[in-house]
Amino acid sequence: MKLIVANWKMNPDSPREAGELAALASRLAKKLRHSKLVLCPPAIYLAPLLKYLSPRLSLGAQNCFSEVAGAHTGEISAPMLRKLGIDYVILGHSERRAGGENDEVVNKKVRLALKEGRKVIVCVGEHERDSHGQYLIELKTQIQNSLAKLGAAGWKNLIIAYEPVWAVGTGAKAADTPAGFLESALFIRRVVTSLVGRRAAFALPILYGGSVEAKNAALFTTVGQADGLLIGRASLNGDEFKKIIKLVDES
Ligand code: PGA
Repeated sequence: MKLIVANWKMNPDSPREAGELAALASRLAKKLRHSKLVLCPPAIYLAPLLKYLSPRLSLGAQNCFSEVAGAHTGEISAPMLRKLGIDYVILGHSERRAGGENDEVVNKKVRLALKEGRKVIVCVGEHERDSHGQYLIELKTQIQNSLAKLGAAGWKNLIIAYEPVWAVGTGAKAADTPAGFLESALFIRRVVTSLVGRRAAFALPILYGGSVEAKNAALFTTVGQADGLLIGRASLNGDEFKKIIKLVDES
């Protein structure tokens, strides 16, 4: 089962448009045979979109806080997500890391969200890709620190999204190649093996994210063997998103 995760970031800017995007996704989800959609809208739209949940469509938050309770203005907690019925949460996205979130904070959030039984999508990825493999050290450090002390049970609800920072968002150079992804995913499994053992490391879903479009989506899931995709910009364009979903589901 491939996981197609839509990261809407701070979009769209009206509840009406959010409803329209979700309604489209909900129609598309009904036809899926080999994949599942997870819509991650801004937190303010989570509750109104609950009505679109279905066996092939889940909702996820784009973040949650590193404490479960207390005076934390503007934050939302992992227990709130659980009680609202939000199954997934993205943590450690590069745009949040750029805003000051470090591996230690990401680790705290991951552990709390797992404790609440959420499925956690943790983003990792290097800033630059060099030809000597230095970037792998950055990747390894992120994984070891963001995913420390999870406990064997926690890993069952963990998903890694490999998102090289240079491939993400409007300032992206280009998407990674499926072969580049495959190499990084193998490296990630090796690092995870050293943390929890081979079996859990090979069962771990690893998604690709960064400039996914209809023209490259299915290549990542076939040639690149990605377990799914994390899609930003293209998930906001109904026609493009529809094409991606169809291609990936049939691939
Ligand atoms: P993008 O964003 O698809 O617009 O590059 C991906 C992400 O930030 O998750």
